[in-house]
Amino acid sequence: MALIERSFRERIILVGVVLPPAGEEEVEDHLDELALLVDTAGADVVARVTQRRDRPDPATFIGKGKAEELRELSYEVDADTVVFDDELSPAQSRNLEKILGRTAIDRTAVILDIFAQNAHTQEGRAQVELAMLRYRLPRLRGRGVSFSQQAGGIGTRGPGETQLEVDRRRLLRRITALEADLQRLTLTRRTQRKARSRGHQRSVSLVGYTNAGKSTLLNQLTGAGVLVEDRLFATLDPRVRRLDLPGGEAVLLSDTVGFVRKLPHQLVEAFRSTLEVVAESDLLVHLVDASAVDPDAQIAAVRSVLAEIGAAHVPELPVFNKIDRAIGSRRLVERHPGSVGISALTGEGIEEFLRTLADRLRALDTVVELLVPYARGDVLAALHREGEVLDETHEDDAIRVRACVDEATVNRFREYLVS
Ligand code: GTP
Repeated sequence: MALIERSFRERIILVGVVLPPAGEEEVEDHLDELALLVDTAGADVVARVTQRRDRPDPATFIGKGKAEELRELSYEVDADTVVFDDELSPAQSRNLEKILGRTAIDRTAVILDIFAQNAHTQEGRAQVELAMLRYRLPRLRGRGVSFSQQAGGIGTRGPGETQLEVDRRRLLRRITALEADLQRLTLTRRTQRKARSRGHQRSVSLVGYTNAGKSTLLNQLTGAGVLVEDRLFATLDPRVRRLDLPGGEAVLLSDTVGFVRKLPHQLVEAFRSTLEVVAESDLLVHLVDASAVDPDAQIAAVRSVLAEIGAAHVPELPVFNKIDRAIGSRRLVERHPGSVGISALTGEGIEEFLRTLADRLRALDTVVELLVPYARGDVLAALHREGEVLDETHEDDAIRVRACVDEATVNRFREYLVS
């Protein structure tokens, strides 16, 4: 299923196009990230090319002249594949491959490839395969030779059917089968979730930009004995586990896929059923790599995916990870009220994190009433983000808000408190 060869380390050229309103710096930033993704996929970046344009060329995305230059460069650096930061139409990648004489893929393909490597559960694998097939379907192309070849076996090719049509039919059949499988799995998952919510256990989802350290955190918590397999569901839904908090409460913790910028639409679609659990949880633990070049951009990218999957309303606890090596982490924690700093690697801050998590969850049961002046949209936004807003009534010069928020938030907005 891989789109990137893994029997050897492919040599890759990255291509970014600066399209208004984006600036050079932003595109370089995206290329840095693309380089990380390519490395994660198991290939080496050997060169980078950018071009400034008013709009993409409909046939080749970059200009024709630039494409010729790119071919020269590909020979010079002996590149196997060219990866574009932006999504290429099937026709564009076909035209580019003709000019370049090598595979031309886009960021989506790289991300799909990484997800394919990292999908471990039955459902995860089916979701990634479905996303890949949907990506490949419009990109199927006739192979000149097979056109004239007679396919063997029963049902492989009807009379007059080209190899391309056979391939397309096979792909469509597989897509239908996967969709049916996933629908079944979604139903099972919903039933499990219902059973859980009857047990009144709070559910927490761990979200974060890819590489934030989610797996490391889960290992740290498991090592500390606070995270255990939720045996009841372990066989069916291995991503949900029981987390014991200080104070004795147990919550259900779901692990999700890593988020990235420009998360391919096919993936969001395919993972929708997995991501449903995020939208339905009581609280999100949003893990952020404090040592990243631009942590705020990663936070924004995660939030935009959360909005896309209908989870923007779920209260969030920001957790800055890797404080052992991030110089500016203290400032980040200060700048994001209610957040905590941890090192999933060394265990630093984990106790405080668990205490804060327990506090936040307990707060979900305490209702407070506030009168927020219309001018303080920021306070309203913070209440939505940090707690659960139950209702808002518009009065003459303020909004009356009933919300479940924790003590820290109440203290910050004490001046607006009514009850
Ligand atoms: P995805 O699977 O892409 O979502 O990644 P992830 O969020 O599970 O990240 P993972 O736990 O794999 O960590 C990514 C990298 O960061 C690894 O190399 C970890 O060793 C490193 N890392 C994680 N936590 C810490 C930390 O607290 N400090 C330091 N210095 N490195 C960390």
